[in-house]
Amino acid sequence: MSHRTPVIAANWKMHKTIEEAEAFLGDFLPQVADVSETEIVICPSYVALQAAVELCAQTRVRIAAQNVHEETEGAFTGEVSAPMLEEIGVSGVVLGHSERRTYFAETDDALARKVPAALAARLRPILCVGETESQREADATEDVLRRQVDADLAGIEDGRLAEVVIAYEPVWAIGTGKTATPDQAEEAIGMIRSLIGARSAEAADSIRILYGGSVTTENAAGLLGRAQIDGALVGGASLDSDGFARIVTAAR
Ligand code: PGA
Repeated sequence: MSHRTPVIAANWKMHKTIEEAEAFLGDFLPQVADVSETEIVICPSYVALQAAVELCAQTRVRIAAQNVHEETEGAFTGEVSAPMLEEIGVSGVVLGHSERRTYFAETDDALARKVPAALAARLRPILCVGETESQREADATEDVLRRQVDADLAGIEDGRLAEVVIAYEPVWAIGTGKTATPDQAEEAIGMIRSLIGARSAEAADSIRILYGGSVTTENAAGLLGRAQIDGALVGGASLDSDGFARIVTAAR
């Protein structure tokens, strides 16, 4: 790893009730109490956010949401705004996850508004990008990453790019058990870093770019040992407190 502070984030997706989230944190927090050199982020469902924020208040663990609406308020039934998340002590938000792009029709246009809305409310965006299997097979990975990074970050001025965390999540690796090899992950993350570098060399040097997609306790150290890979966004393997604590430790 590099001079950049690594980020290890747990994307719980639609898992864990408040009671289950509390049980996880009761077990997990003591295991990472002495971890100071890694940013640990947990992304529970909306309803468990506040309980998680309260349990993590005296710790270095930060809580992020899994989505946010781009407007601050309005007639958008079922949606939650960035100021609402900020009010309860949430400090970040996952944006553009492939499940949201695929199942909930999240577009790059919407993301171009959501990323600045998050930053305006002091929420750190964790922006997910990545190609599908057929795009990779068609050699279109670089084009897809360019289109997503250019469009999704269009509303962010160069001087604030480094406040965003990017997660490279190849769609074919999410929840499939088919992890990208460290070489594949590093190559794609290098592409993303040079896309940022075309806008700001300084931002490219300091922005954290994570890998996500079937990260496990077994493969984490191999991925996190690479200079370009600044951490991981972990889905399935983050649901177990002992396993996720081991992944955090692998980032040290
Ligand atoms: P996975 O999910 O680790 O279960 O593949 C990763 C993600 O969707 O962020």
